[in-house]
Amino acid sequence: MTEKRVKSVLLDREAIREKISELGAEISRDYVGKEVLLICVLKGAVIFLADLVRHLDLPVQLDFMAVSSYGTATETSGVVRILKDLEGSIEGRHCLIVEDIIDSGLTLNYLQENLRSRRPASLKIVALLDKPERRQVEIEPDYVGFRIPDEFVVGYGLDFKDRYRCLPDICILGEDD
Ligand code: IMP
Ligand code: MG
Repeated sequence: MTEKRVKSVLLDREAIREKISELGAEISRDYVGKEVLLICVLKGAVIFLADLVRHLDLPVQLDFMAVSSYGTATETSGVVRILKDLEGSIEGRHCLIVEDIIDSGLTLNYLQENLRSRRPASLKIVALLDKPERRQVEIEPDYVGFRIPDEFVVGYGLDFKDRYRCLPDICILGEDD
């Protein structure tokens, strides 16, 4: 069996920590006086969520969604299926989708449409990573940690075939060897 290997570190833990603290401050300013429901997209965004919430100076609640998009290990097909839905209603609530990475944009495009139909008071997106070159549908996150080149990355929650999620740095995955 061929194995993909981590090639290099793209963003180290210190850079991630600093960026999340900035994002937390920005989001806290924008939502001042409001209560926010953070909607974490499983599984990739859990580590980002866990760090981000500790930089928010706001009353927050958490809920989780799991979606799967059909496709190969590194390419989505755009057909999205909900594997786990939110626990509660979002009607009239200020919702912030917490996502690990935006690639083609198809997953978030679907999620945004789906959640909008449930009539939240507001709906925004925070993505730790954005690969704008890969976009297939127009989708603009409200908050972005890092814009990165078109490389497949793992670590800090991001996986390849459910592996590498627990690496503390965000790394570029190499070719098979
Ligand atoms: P999109 O629908 O193409 O925007 O894909 C978004 C989803 O694909 C993300 O939530 C990730 O789960 C996955 N994904 C896209 N690019 C990467 C990557 O470089 N590393 C790991 N997962 C990725
Ligand atoms: Mg994901």
